Amino acid sequence: MDDLDRLRTDAFRDLDASADAGELETVRVAYVGRKGRLTEILRSLGARSLAERKSLGSAANAFRDEFEAKLTARAVVLTTAAAETRERFDSTKPGAKLHRGHLHPLSLVDADVRRIFTGMNFTVVEGPEVETERYNFDALNIPANHPARDLWDTFWLKLPAEGGKLARPNLPHKFGFGHKLLLRTHTSPMQVRYMEAHNPPFQIIVPGRTFRYEATDASHEINFYQVEGLMVGPDISLANFKYVVERFFTEFFRGKDIAFRFRPSYFPFVEPGLEVEIQVQQTTNGSSRAVARGNKQQTNVWIEVMGAGMVHRRVFDAVRYNPDPTAGGVQGFAFGVGLDRLAMIKYGIPDIRLFYGGDLRFIHQFRSL
Ligand code: PHE
Repeated sequence: MDDLDRLRTDAFRDLDASADAGELETVRVAYVGRKGRLTEILRSLGARSLAERKSLGSAANAFRDEFEAKLTARAVVLTTAAAETRERFDSTKPGAKLHRGHLHPLSLVDADVRRIFTGMNFTVVEGPEVETERYNFDALNIPANHPARDLWDTFWLKLPAEGGKLARPNLPHKFGFGHKLLLRTHTSPMQVRYMEAHNPPFQIIVPGRTFRYEATDASHEINFYQVEGLMVGPDISLANFKYVVERFFTEFFRGKDIAFRFRPSYFPFVEPGLEVEIQVQQTTNGSSRAVARGNKQQTNVWIEVMGAGMVHRRVFDAVRYNPDPTAGGVQGFAFGVGLDRLAMIKYGIPDIRLFYGGDLRFIHQFRSL
């Protein structure tokens, strides 16, 4: 009888203390389950006297009824409490904002460039990332063994079938018969491809991915993006180019009249060749921001963002254009701009490797869709 009294006190205390359906079930099993404390007492009845069996037996049954009633009551209390803490529908509450993802900064810049140039009546074309030696080099006046090839550290492609020898695909001449394959080191090969297939006058841009076999650091990646520009016609000059870049920069930097300049430079496929630099202010985290014309701070520096020039007559020769404007021929300008560097300057990004690192904390800082 003492055992049963203790059992009662413990059982009702535990029932009251249970905080959820799971705990309640544990309590039930501990007392009236197959190995529960009440079950044990009932099992011990056989060893007792008849009188004891009678009184203990009926007390135990009474306890079981009482326990079960309390168990049900407790279960009701717990489920109502759980339902009340659950959020109720509030029709006046503003809707939860959907997370819609972010555009990568390079996608943002790519979209800007396409918009600005199509606004100037340029056509957007794209070309292959795997190129032949002829389009990437020879037709651009960069013959084999010419030291100018060193300007572009190249990933040459090997076909496994050739046992590690450099690939020499058997392509028709048009695609560069007998020429080795490579990952294009710039978007300039598309100048040649486009001119082979179209007649002037025209103006195009070629956005695309490019590759260089070099050590990576804060401003170099083996994989980056360029936009090529090409405008050809009977009387296209560097004056036209100056207008086009100026308008491009102004729109790209949202109306800011930024400081830029031309410096003489060398690329085998243009003559004269030039480099376009813009003036930037360096910040403490190592990033650079374009400054407006007339900003004379001592700490400003010029950085190169573009290569350009007048298309070399050897390139026109390669595509069978007449390079003599005085005899019904054409002339034109070409340029190549690094998208990554433009994005870095526009958004103040200190390290080019951030673009390809896949760190969402980086991407989430840009405009959402
Ligand atoms: N293709 C050159 C480069 O990647 C850039 C360039 C393009 C220069 C067009 C002149 C004309 O370095």
